[in-house]
Amino acid sequence: MKVAIASDHTALPMKAELIEEMIELGIEYEDLGAYTDERVHYPDYALEVSKKVADGEVDRGILICGTGIGMSIMANKVKGIRCAHVQDAFSAKFTRLHNDSNVLALGQRVLGHGLAREIARVWLETEYEGGRHAIRVQKIADYENSN
Ligand code: RB5
Repeated sequence: MKVAIASDHTALPMKAELIEEMIELGIEYEDLGAYTDERVHYPDYALEVSKKVADGEVDRGILICGTGIGMSIMANKVKGIRCAHVQDAFSAKFTRLHNDSNVLALGQRVLGHGLAREIARVWLETEYEGGRHAIRVQKIADYENSN
């Protein structure tokens, strides 16, 4: 699996933690910035990661900003993206099992780094269940494709 990861200027420390987690898990990653704490705009980073996921260049994406909310709003505007803004490990597991989420959004100002790493690990390691959930995920895609 290959993962694209990005944060805005507020979330560089958490991005570094999650990169460390991916290295420990043996997951290939692409760090798309930000690289310094100079002010940037989170929608630019959310778009870059989400387009790579939607285009199939990477399998999944991880986005971090102050709250995780701005990143998730932008990511979910990209066709094919199912971005989950997650703050606990239970939701991380079930958004993979049931929603087949392909982008994870986290908040540097909300979560401790230990919890963020646990959330990311669970999210990265959990496979989509499919089955009855496929009908529901397909309904999302159908709506997206009709617009
Ligand atoms: C940046 O100040 C902040 O708005 C951003 O990191 C994020 O929290 C937006 O949702």
